[in-house]
Amino acid sequence: MMRYFIIALLLLGCTAKKTATNSRVSQLPSKTMLLKQPLEAEDLDPDPNVLHVKLSAAKTIHEINGETILGYAYNKQFPGPLLRLKRGDTLKVDLENNLGTPTTIHWHGVHVPFAMDGVTWQQDPVAVGESFTYEFKLNQSGTYWYHPHFNTAQQVDRGLYGVLVVEEPTDPPMDEELVLIFDGMSEADPFADESESEDDEHEHSHRHAPIANWLVNGAYQPTVKLKGGSRVRVRMLNASNAGYVDLRMPSIRQVGSDQGRLTSLGTAENIVLSPGDRADVVWLIGETGFEVRTAPYFLDGGAGLTDANPKWSLEKTLLTVEVDSPKAAPAPATWPWSNEKPTKDPGYADIVYVFSGAQTTGKWLINGESFPDVTIEEIPLGATRIIEVRNLSPTEHPFHLHGHAFEVLSVDGVQPQFKSLEDTINVAIRSSVRLRLVANNPGDWMTHCHILPHAHNGMMTVLRVLDK
Ligand code: C2O
Ligand code: CU
Repeated sequence: MMRYFIIALLLLGCTAKKTATNSRVSQLPSKTMLLKQPLEAEDLDPDPNVLHVKLSAAKTIHEINGETILGYAYNKQFPGPLLRLKRGDTLKVDLENNLGTPTTIHWHGVHVPFAMDGVTWQQDPVAVGESFTYEFKLNQSGTYWYHPHFNTAQQVDRGLYGVLVVEEPTDPPMDEELVLIFDGMSEADPFADESESEDDEHEHSHRHAPIANWLVNGAYQPTVKLKGGSRVRVRMLNASNAGYVDLRMPSIRQVGSDQGRLTSLGTAENIVLSPGDRADVVWLIGETGFEVRTAPYFLDGGAGLTDANPKWSLEKTLLTVEVDSPKAAPAPATWPWSNEKPTKDPGYADIVYVFSGAQTTGKWLINGESFPDVTIEEIPLGATRIIEVRNLSPTEHPFHLHGHAFEVLSVDGVQPQFKSLEDTINVAIRSSVRLRLVANNPGDWMTHCHILPHAHNGMMTVLRVLDK
């Protein structure tokens, strides 16, 4: 039965693809799409402190602004179901693999026990037709996400990802909450390549130009209507394989980042989200609408590199906010900022990771090594280590560590104003960051660049936190 179902989907997919060619870059139809919020998955457990859901990964036809494209999805939803819990709750997920290929789920940014990390270093991937149950307690709060960690670049690119919201009971209540998941589509159709081998190269993911079409929650340039006079919490994720967004919107009030609530309100002019990054902001909706835009951002030159081709050099609209019943903007809520100062950068590092490699060689290395032929760093449980990441390569790389948070001590020697906890941090060209890690979670943790094709091509290593 399942087999017929998949064949039917494949057939459908082929016809669907014919109608979908050629229009990827130039223009996805700019009809007025309303912003969708990812639906929450059905909770199978009546216990209010347990969220138990089933996630079935399968080939699915995605509909993007009226175009149909064959991809992958959890529970036929693109992006995947929103998993919403509060700090202290238990999450239980039955992953059912109905793809034509093995898969896993990794819980990005969550301090899970190693057995639940979803890396093939730890568990065999869940075979076709098989299931696996992930179960762990959420002892942290913030905006996280989940995605496969097997053939990651391909499976994420095809649509396997979703947001995990862990509410913080001490955050002030808001009138509304939105999740915005940015994902790029570039020159090539991300779903065009039907092969499922681990060695696939994904040409579109290697492009160093900014992404032509950004989707927000699976739609191109959607619109959202919000009530005048309301406070809206916006949880943003960059789920793109390789594209950066350099977000512009009026009067940014950033309240959270990778590892939950900030220690102090952020009011920068822009927010750069590298692949895997999250940021939470609050909008105080008044009389007039606005746009959320991205400035061009190049992997091999950040925001500074410009291009004569207007296709690449213009700001692009991601989302339009319209106001329903305009009214004066509300006063900001009171947040219990800790205003904690950063730990002092000691000026040395215990562990140094040097990023190198180049587009021309197609090899991306950490300390001259390519995964899986890597040296494993070992740290005793409970020890503190200073990690320095230096980027000697000609492109930027978001550094990501599993199972832990790290504190950012300095970026090019400059310490942040307030204490900042992250799990993903961009390292610009010829830049170096120093991070402080308290190794409090035993396991063999993946450490990699979150530009997924870079990780696929070697930019990945393992940090072992010993059991005792
Ligand atoms: Cu988003 Cu290895 O992770
Ligand atoms: Cu990289």
